[in-house]
Amino acid sequence: MRCHVHTIPLPALLPTYAPYPFPILKGLGDTVFDDEGLAYWDFYGGHCVCATGHCHPAVVDAIAAQAEDLIFYSTAARIPLREQAAHALVEFADGPASVFFCNSGAEAVENALKIALKLTGRKAFLAFEGAFHGRTLLALSVTDDAKLRKDYETFLVPTTFLLFGDMGALDALDFTAFAAVILEPIQSMAGVKTADTAWFQAIRAKCEAAGALLIFDEVQTGFGRLGKPFASQVYGVQPDLSTCAKGIASGVPMGAVLLSGEVASQLKPGDLGSTFGGGPLACAALLATLSVIQSDGLMERAKEASQLIRDGLLGTVVSSVQGAGLLLGLRAEGGASALKKFLQSRRILVGGSGDPEVLRLMPPLNLSDEAIQALVDAVQEFSEVIP
Ligand SMILES: Cc1ncc(COP(=O)(O)O)c(C=O)c1O
Repeated sequence: MRCHVHTIPLPALLPTYAPYPFPILKGLGDTVFDDEGLAYWDFYGGHCVCATGHCHPAVVDAIAAQAEDLIFYSTAARIPLREQAAHALVEFADGPASVFFCNSGAEAVENALKIALKLTGRKAFLAFEGAFHGRTLLALSVTDDAKLRKDYETFLVPTTFLLFGDMGALDALDFTAFAAVILEPIQSMAGVKTADTAWFQAIRAKCEAAGALLIFDEVQTGFGRLGKPFASQVYGVQPDLSTCAKGIASGVPMGAVLLSGEVASQLKPGDLGSTFGGGPLACAALLATLSVIQSDGLMERAKEASQLIRDGLLGTVVSSVQGAGLLLGLRAEGGASALKKFLQSRRILVGGSGDPEVLRLMPPLNLSDEAIQALVDAVQEFSEVIP
């Protein structure tokens, strides 16, 4: 391979993203501020990350206090805080027996899939059309995005993709070749798609019968966003493994795999590892996040805010509001990208999705009534001006 010699200077920061046309310098609750001090309502939530709002004082204090004591030591040492964080997370999740800490959503998915390959000895996965699980090679194997996959197809583990939520497709399929079935309980990137409880239960039963592990990717749906700690509780289905990241530590990078007792008992020391996994700073932020979610009633607020948004957007250009809790998709046929631009001009940040007709809301769970009113007013204003 040859190196190209460049004559024009390249940006130091590799330009792989398309950022907003303004920088963000500060955040407080459901609001972020640019370099001129202008405030934006953050319905994007730093990509579904800032579950407790920006810079919640309890999270800031926990991180600052921990930074004074010990910023980091690896898993070579026992750190009581790490064990305390694992314990609190297992209690919060109410079902899994153990936690493996890592650093991101893709790393959590990668580890969950590796565990399934190891424990079953099988060499294929089942996933769903439109799925997004991350960009590392195993996570990409179960991600349904031709653009992201195209340069790596030969390195990807064979995966069957079924229509999300479709009972007929499920019934017809034999699961015995699959190491794991992985799903997002609500498909976010695909355009905030939901499925029926009966569909999740049917998958659980088929996995059980065929000896395939069931993995819930709760990177977006976890940590109270749907009004319960995890989506598995919303649908009443207990997966073998769950993957977490994003909201887990209010923005301090962290990922986790939650394991059932049966899975955890088959793993031994050395099977998994990660230098930064479960570092003290991240564990302090996780403990503070769990405590704020519970003490500030954020799961109840997620449900309440969700209903206020649904009610407020009735009769506007938004023909339907998809999703649950504070993972919502606004369907605006023919007008989604114009609506996104308009909202940005009104200093309201929302996300796009893989469906060009659907915008995504994944705001902090302590979203204020003022933020909701601002969104509703702006969507109504847009609905009156479009032809
Ligand atoms: C459902 C889901 N899984 C996994 C990932 C990957 O997470 P990360 O970007 O932290 O690697 C994402 C990221 O958006 C996601 O939405």
